[in-house]
Amino acid sequence: MKIAAGADHGGYAIKEAVVRGLRSQGHEVIDVGTDSAQTSVDYPTFAHRVAALVANGEVERGLLVCGTGLGVCMAANRHRGVRAADCLTPHLAEMARRHNDANVLCLGGRLLSEDEAWAITEVWLATPFEGGRHSKRVELIELQEGPA
Ligand code: RB5
Repeated sequence: MKIAAGADHGGYAIKEAVVRGLRSQGHEVIDVGTDSAQTSVDYPTFAHRVAALVANGEVERGLLVCGTGLGVCMAANRHRGVRAADCLTPHLAEMARRHNDANVLCLGGRLLSEDEAWAITEVWLATPFEGGRHSKRVELIELQEGPA
């Protein structure tokens, strides 16, 4: 799979660990930064880079990490067609894929160990979207005005 990955300083270490895991499994990763945990940066910068790559179809999925996963998730979800989910557990990652077809995984770099982050990522990669009744609901997400 082709995956874009980004993080702020609070998510840098987990982003590096997960990107290593993804590459070792043969995934192609575009790393949009940041490149250090030492310099404070603004999480929306990296969230928008990743979300834009997902929205324009250059990558199939995105991975975003900040301290909590919350800020990158909010920014990424401003992009049409992006469904970003902040997943603290493998169960949330499974449900985000099965029911919500989440195409961007957000992780809390200050909340998760490397092993926990990788376990969540593996489930998110392996779990298909269920479709069926969930397809219409996912389509409705894009209707900002709500259904008629
Ligand atoms: C940065 O200190 C922190 O605010 C950021 O990583 C993230 O948690 C924001 O949602």
